[in-house]
Amino acid sequence: MTHGNGTEVTEFFLLGFGAQHRFQHILFIVFLLIYVTTMVDNIGMILLIKADSRLQTPMYFFLQHLTFVDICYTSAITPKMLQNLISENKSISFVGCVMQLWVYGTFSTNDCYLLAAMAVDRYVAICKPLRYSTIMSHTVCIQFIAGSYVIGSINASVHAGLLFSLSFCKSHIINHFFCDGPPILALSCSDIAINIMLFAVFVGFNLMFTMLTVIFSYIYILASILKMPSTAGRKKAFSTCASHLTAVTIFYGTLSYMYLQPHSNNSQSTMKVASIFYGIVIPMLNPLVYSLRNKEVKEALKGIGKKFF
Ligand SMILES: *[C@@H]1O[C@H](CO)[C@@H](O)[C@H](O)[C@H]1NC(C)=O
Repeated sequence: MTHGNGTEVTEFFLLGFGAQHRFQHILFIVFLLIYVTTMVDNIGMILLIKADSRLQTPMYFFLQHLTFVDICYTSAITPKMLQNLISENKSISFVGCVMQLWVYGTFSTNDCYLLAAMAVDRYVAICKPLRYSTIMSHTVCIQFIAGSYVIGSINASVHAGLLFSLSFCKSHIINHFFCDGPPILALSCSDIAINIMLFAVFVGFNLMFTMLTVIFSYIYILASILKMPSTAGRKKAFSTCASHLTAVTIFYGTLSYMYLQPHSNNSQSTMKVASIFYGIVIPMLNPLVYSLRNKEVKEALKGIGKKFF
């Protein structure tokens, strides 16, 4: 396969966490447990929402897609990482690498937009309660969701497509545990100025746009909750956004930590730890956050429990 200036690259090697061999088996067990939990709790959440008639609202429709997206992006990176932790051969084909970057890039962007759409949903529910069902109609929800998939695949296609124009003559060892933009760019000997600029523009725009949507929604939500006359009303309104607020805080907190810190010598390893959290731990947390902090989900779970036990 020929790319750029005729330099051939057919495979890369994923360095993962480097030489700490002693920990590899422990890490394998920990990440395997996390991955199995992620699968069980996300699929469980999708089925629970399908099964319970009380959960047929826009918020849970979005949540269903969020859990699906979580499954997709963690599955793009975790199985390969698990394999690399226990096998001597840490190679990944060029095509495999591009595919991994594409799937991860699509669904991680998707996640940002779904969380923002969910913030808008909470804003309408609390600030415009009387018009909620007309504003958040099924068509509007579908448009939000479809939009998030489209933007996600645009982000991923741009980054993946640009890889084909690069040549890799330095080293084929990726200092990361999966194929992501910056660690691959670091290996190229082409002029990567435009790639770096596009990466910053895309990630910056997606992050800023969705984060500001969330922040402004919550400013309005907070203002209208504070204006409510009764404490009971305030509590009830707040409880409907508590789980979403927890989920966005964890998600954007991690992303900001990853992308908004100045580059330093140890930034490579902080980046690795942060992306472990982002790519592997957060997908496990979302359904847990929703089932522990949400009355409706708890009740639906109790209902299912009664049926079976
Ligand atoms: C866009 O895709 C790239 C490449 O996979 C990824 O690193 C980045 O996180 C994605 N953007 C956002 C906002 O998630």
